[in-house]
Formats: sequence, structure tokens, C-alpha cells
Amino acid sequence: MSPEWLKDTVFYEIYPQSFQDSNGDGVGDLPGIIRRLDYICGLGCNALWINPCFDSPFKDAGYDVRDYKKVAPRYGTNEDLCRLFAEAHRRGVRVLLDLVPGHTSDQHPWFKASARAEENEYSGRYIWTGSAFESIEGKPYISGMTDRDGAYMLNFFASQPSLNYGWLRRDKPWMSAPDSPEALATREGMKDVMRFWLDLGCDGFRVDMADYLVKNDDESRSATSAVWRDVREMLDREYPEAALVSEWSAPRLAINRAGFHMDFYLDHWHNGYNTLLRDYETEGGDHSYFRKDGGGDIRRFLRDYLPKYLETRDRGYISMITCNHDTPRPARTLSPDELKLAYAFLLTMPGVPFLYYGDEIGMRYLDVPTKEGGYQRTGSRTPMQWDAGKNMGFSEAAEEQLYLPYDHSPDAPCVAEQEADPSSLLSVTKSLTALRRRYEDLQADAEFAVIRAEADPPFVYRRGTDHGAPVLCGAGGRRGCFPLKKTPGSDKLRV
Ligand code: NOJ
Repeated sequence: MSPEWLKDTVFYEIYPQSFQDSNGDGVGDLPGIIRRLDYICGLGCNALWINPCFDSPFKDAGYDVRDYKKVAPRYGTNEDLCRLFAEAHRRGVRVLLDLVPGHTSDQHPWFKASARAEENEYSGRYIWTGSAFESIEGKPYISGMTDRDGAYMLNFFASQPSLNYGWLRRDKPWMSAPDSPEALATREGMKDVMRFWLDLGCDGFRVDMADYLVKNDDESRSATSAVWRDVREMLDREYPEAALVSEWSAPRLAINRAGFHMDFYLDHWHNGYNTLLRDYETEGGDHSYFRKDGGGDIRRFLRDYLPKYLETRDRGYISMITCNHDTPRPARTLSPDELKLAYAFLLTMPGVPFLYYGDEIGMRYLDVPTKEGGYQRTGSRTPMQWDAGKNMGFSEAAEEQLYLPYDHSPDAPCVAEQEADPSSLLSVTKSLTALRRRYEDLQADAEFAVIRAEADPPFVYRRGTDHGAPVLCGAGGRRGCFPLKKTPGSDKLRV
């Protein structure tokens, strides 16, 4: 089963470029994160997920790794990362790194070796056709750029060649089998990277594009799942406390078949999660459930969520997110009051929740030029707004040197101001995380049952069962009310 510590965990996702700059170069860094660990603890989060912080040419914000075992100099050194592990652990906070197993940067030494004309140890590490004139049907590829006479497959952007985990359905001689020596070598190479960081103190990984390792896989991703089950066996044997969360958004496959401890519920067009916060592309306007006037219907969420929850609840966790570095900030369309209610829901659901940096103060989605392959995602990656000081406390650098501009609007939210206001979004978020951390009935494993779900609000659900008087939660309508019947005293949280 899952590591015990996940049960009462609330994660905080940090995009390291934009969280806290400590050396005045305009880019966030690891010492900056260390400096803010007490803030994160005060927020009630007890685990971090840090987006890739490894050496990279940053054509995709670090998802194009050049050296898996080296911290990017702009963020600090490997020693800084080890210090972060130690300082976090001292405060009871776990740290997940971001593992990008499906591709590297085209600057990675493995790829450079693989692109050489002469056969070498890395020739089979990536996917190549047999000749520069032979394409890869239905898949993006590049040819004519290397001495090697072949076309190489792309996993995402043009700078991200696909690592070779083999092909399930094979109709070309250059397609390796998933259990071929070269595909197994890729897998072992990735396990070696995991061991490297786990030995140094990291607590697990968020896994990028976890569903897309073996190519031409079947619908249930049986070959890719077999790779992950093998990785999970390694973890269970060697690092039983380590946790894996997948970027997959198909919990029945990611958890039940592939063996991930958690799977993200991502903002995919018209899935249940999308109907809650970002249903703005439906005909007739935004019908997001947490838009007060959206006319949303919670049953659209439940139809998608419930079967997934029921089929995976004994095996792992669905991870609800406020947002992530690829998704528009929820404050783009929701007011602070609507956000309070939405977070009350997200933080009282089963599974393991993730809060994206800045969402706790309602940071806005900004209209800024693209940066490091962010394109429309860039607006959710801007500097954290700490206080009213220079660059809102993010950095001492000259403004034009900042990684991205911060929110210049006169009412831009910031931590300092909201800390002083008991009714702010930050204060409510803190009481919600505190509530969740305090009551097992609100945590990952406690039961979830729908009490009332109609076309109109309120939506009423129950968490927990075993104390005679279950916790009741309500969400929707003009406000939510959360009477905690099982506890002594009069704990009551109103939003
Ligand atoms: C998903 C990541 O979240 C995204 O930011 C990245 O661009 C792609 N995978 C490619 O690695």
C-alpha cells in the first residue's frame, strides 16, 4: 500500500523560477525556498513538489533535462538541494522532485552520444528510424540534423527527443520490444536517477507524462504500466517510504494497473475536475460549479469522479489540485469568495490535495509574453507576491531582470496583507488545511458519501463514518457550512 505519511499530507507545488530569489539575479532558487519553509509550514502544507530544478537549456522551463543528477546553477547546487531536504525534514515536510522519464533535452550527453554515426552504448537510448529518409508515421520526428543516418522521435517540443522504452505494436525493424536490452537499459537508467536523489534524501517523484513511455501501447497502457510496476517494486523493496504521483489523470490505469500511489485529476476538457473551476469553454458561458452565477451542476463532476474514486480508493489516491504550472490560475475567473468555497471543497475531499504556489492568496493569471516554452501557460508562472516591498518581496534584482513580471495592479494580492486579515483567502486556506490535518475524517482515506446532489445547490457530502456522528460537508449555493459533529467544542468553519 501507500506510504503512511500520505494520509494526512497537503502538498504545495513550487515553480522554482518564481517562488523566492535569494541572490538577486531575478530568478527564484533553492535557498529562497529554504527561506520560505516556515511560511509553507504555517500554511499547513507538509510536503512539496518542486518542478524540475535540474541542469537544462530551459526550452521547456526545465522539462528538457540536460543532466538529471545536477541542480541547475541558477537554482543553486546539489548541496543546496540536500540542505533543502534536511531543512524540510526538520520541519516534518517531505519533498518530491519532478522526474521526466519520457524525454531529455537534445543537449543531454545520452542524446549527443546517440546521435553519433558510430554505434555506442547510447545508440538505442532514443527512438530512431533506420534512415534519415524514413519517417515515423503519425508521430513528430526530426531528421537531417545529425551524423547518424536516422530520424529521431519527439516526445513533446522539438528539443525533447523520446527516450526508448520500446514499442508494443511493432511493424518496423527499428522498433524495439519493451523487453529488449536497449529498452531495459533506458528503464534502468531512470531507476538510477531515482536512486541517486532518493539516497540524497528526496521523498519521491511527480512523474511527467507517465502514461507515454512505451509507444504504440494499447488502450489500457499495459506495456507502460508494466514499466511502472517494475519501478514500484524497486521502491517497495528499497525505498518503501518514497511516493510517486503520476501526471496521467486516469486513476484506474495509473493506480490500479501501473502502481502509482497517487494520480493527478487534471484539467482535461469536460472531465469532472474541469466542470468545477474552469468550465469556461462550454457553449453559453462559464458553467463552472464554483462560479456563483454559473448555473453549474455538481452531478457533472460526480458522474466522472465517483466511479474513479470507488474503483481506486483501496489502492491509492486521486489528487485534487487548485491549479498547476500548465493550467490557468483559478483566480482568472473566480472571485476570492468563490475561491474560498472551491478550496473548502478541494481540501475536504478524499485523496491527497495539491495547492499551487500563490493560489492561497488568489494570485491572478497574467497576460505576459511567453517564457521558456510556456506560451499561454506563462500567465500562471509569475513571481510569488510576498509583500508591498521591492518586486513584491520576490527579488532584489532590477525589475527588468526578473524572470517574469509580477502583478502590477494596485489591488494585487500579497501574503503580508492577507496574513493580517482573518477573513482573507490566505487565512481561510490556512484554517482549511489546519482542519484537514487535525481530523482524520477529512483526510485521504476517510470515507466519502454523497448526501445530496441535485441540479441546484447545495451539494452535501459526508466524510468519515466511524464515530457515530459523521462529518458533514456542504458546498455550493451562497455559502458552505461545515459542522464538525464528532469533535468536542464548537468547531465550525463558515465560508
Ligand atoms: C507536462 C509538464 O507539466 C509540462 O509543463 C511540460 O511542458 C510537458 N509535460 C513536457 O515535459
